[in-house]
Amino acid sequence: MSAYLKQDEPDNANRLDNMRQGVLGTDASRIEGLLKVTGTAPYAAEYQLDDCLEGVLVTATISKGEVTAIDADSVLSMPGVVTVIDDPALIARPAQGTAGEAPEQPARKIGYFGQPIALVVAETFEQARDAAKHLSVSYREDDDAAFDPEAVEAETKDGATSQGDLAHAMKVAAASVDQTYRTEGHSSAAMEPHAAIAQWDGDTLTVYASLQMLNYNISELADSLGLDEDKVRLVSRYVGGGFGSKLGISEETVAASVAAMKLERPVRVAMLRQQVLQCIMRRSETRQRFRLAAGEDGKLTGFGHEARVSNLPGERFAEPVLQSSHFLYAGENRELSMEVARIHRMTAGSVRAPGEAVGMPALECAMDVLAEKCGVDPVELRLRNIPDRHPANGTPFSSHKLAECLKQGAEAFGWDSGQRSPRHTREGEWWVGTGMASAARVHNVGEAKARVTLKADGTTLVETDMTDIGTGTYTILAQTVGEMLGLPVDKVLVELGDTRHPRGPGSGGSWGAASICSAAYLACLALRETLAKRANASEENLELKDGAVVGGASLVNLLDGKDLAEEGHYEPGDIEDDFTAAGFGAFFARVRVNRFTGETRVEHMTGAFGFGRVLNTKTARSQCLGGMTWSIGAALTEAMLFDPVDGHLANCDLAEYHVPVNRDVPDLDVLFVEERDGAASPIQAKGIGELGMCGGAGAIANAIYNACGARVFEFPMTPDRVLTAMPD
Ligand code: MOS
Repeated sequence: MSAYLKQDEPDNANRLDNMRQGVLGTDASRIEGLLKVTGTAPYAAEYQLDDCLEGVLVTATISKGEVTAIDADSVLSMPGVVTVIDDPALIARPAQGTAGEAPEQPARKIGYFGQPIALVVAETFEQARDAAKHLSVSYREDDDAAFDPEAVEAETKDGATSQGDLAHAMKVAAASVDQTYRTEGHSSAAMEPHAAIAQWDGDTLTVYASLQMLNYNISELADSLGLDEDKVRLVSRYVGGGFGSKLGISEETVAASVAAMKLERPVRVAMLRQQVLQCIMRRSETRQRFRLAAGEDGKLTGFGHEARVSNLPGERFAEPVLQSSHFLYAGENRELSMEVARIHRMTAGSVRAPGEAVGMPALECAMDVLAEKCGVDPVELRLRNIPDRHPANGTPFSSHKLAECLKQGAEAFGWDSGQRSPRHTREGEWWVGTGMASAARVHNVGEAKARVTLKADGTTLVETDMTDIGTGTYTILAQTVGEMLGLPVDKVLVELGDTRHPRGPGSGGSWGAASICSAAYLACLALRETLAKRANASEENLELKDGAVVGGASLVNLLDGKDLAEEGHYEPGDIEDDFTAAGFGAFFARVRVNRFTGETRVEHMTGAFGFGRVLNTKTARSQCLGGMTWSIGAALTEAMLFDPVDGHLANCDLAEYHVPVNRDVPDLDVLFVEERDGAASPIQAKGIGELGMCGGAGAIANAIYNACGARVFEFPMTPDRVLTAMPD
């Protein structure tokens, strides 16, 4: 028996609402926390396999052209070297979003500097690394590589919106803004570098890898190797961050597999930090023009957002910066469009909150300019422009807490809604000011399966190939099952990250929690049906507590010596066409800007977020803290810097690619505006992970202006840019 739900209707009378266990929605600590802090949770590269060889990738030193020869003999006599793999499969990795299709990239063609071209395998890591440096590679280099996204023709991307007459609205508007912003590329730079160990037993390939979406990665890997999926097993129990960079498989996973199959010995390939930055997908830089037309009261009559992003030729992904612009603010005259420039930097793909992470800060800066032009308080300006429905397609919002987030956030932060003018406060060398921004991020869900087993020995087991990328998936699954079955969290064992288990949705796009917990919820409903029958009760009235029916038999007795397992299968249905679903929120920031150096320090930030049912207040808050921290990086320091002559990434380590460190991050306040969204998912939760960075950099930028009077139109707002824009 199993429980299947294709969601076509909002689920507004959810069983979880009747539960009184106090297990879900608490601040329960991570159930795998002890393993992590004691260093005993195995990450991909840490599995100990006998006879394991070490592989190091060799990467291209040209940006466009072809590898004409790889001279394996140049390294084969070096100490410990076993082989050089230059199998075309190694570089024929499927592009993002093309699972199940044949790899497109022709073998040995080079599209970007740093592209993996070969693998050197040796007995030790040091031997492999040394040999990789000495491998002789010949190239034929093309001289038509394009590196500047502004200097090439761009392709128009589908999905543009054109409604009414924006040009006319701009002409007759009482206040208008026409402003272009630029953001530079970001790297996911997850703490755990990409790594894999592959083992081939002559029939089946087992790969320990660091991946976000096993249900999809297994097809990608099987395709790359020409194997049937049932001959591949992926294991990814712990993942040290992904942020989109591990949604798809990368070269280390394919290369380790190719080598293990050829050598019939286990092979480990861990990317070097520099390789992670050079080879793994980037967030595209963006150019975004906003046209905002408003009446004297600040109500928008026109809204325009035109963007240019970039990617390699042939790649389908385009940083979806318009995503929340489609519905965040009203305005009947609308123009939204996007174009993609084809350049030779590494693949552009999903990096934490693709789209809104850079679209929202730019939009919120333009809104700040509008607020000033209209003389309307920035919070009030947003409140006046919240639409009742999706302003273009007219669908209702599944739930919408933007107004509450703006109000409660402003109050918690101590927002001064009085007259705003820059340079109102100076403390010594420092100008001090405040700024705010809305947050928005589309809500996603994905098909998900999870099996829940009540075992005759009294334990309860949850199994799915879902991953926990540091977000808290283990814990919220234990909580969901605990709540439904009347069990404390420590009585529920959760096994994740193994393709032998039922297929989960993977972790990404903030869809993980709502999707997989809905599958576990369905499995528990089915278990409750059976238990109710055995206890001569109805499922609705079945009360379970501490491993027993309240006032009745224990679960173990009801099992009668036999395990009871149910699989929950959740599939998003047509409901996605009926509602616009998104998480909303508000950011408030106080910064100080040095009047001589242009250095910005964030002093305080408050984030207020509405994203449906909160499954765990501690892990949800941590997601918000992480997002707000990334907002600080996006606002002030993070930028991938490419050499304009040969296109190579110049800052490919964490010494040069500047993520915020402790000294950069002040106390951050996080506020939840809880809501139940029965259309968003069966458990009434929406996505949480990415919302915390969708606009935050805009609040910091607006605070910089309020502090020192510098309107900067480029992210990150480094001291040189702030100083240049600072009035005398
Ligand atoms: Mo998401 S782009 O997988 O953080």
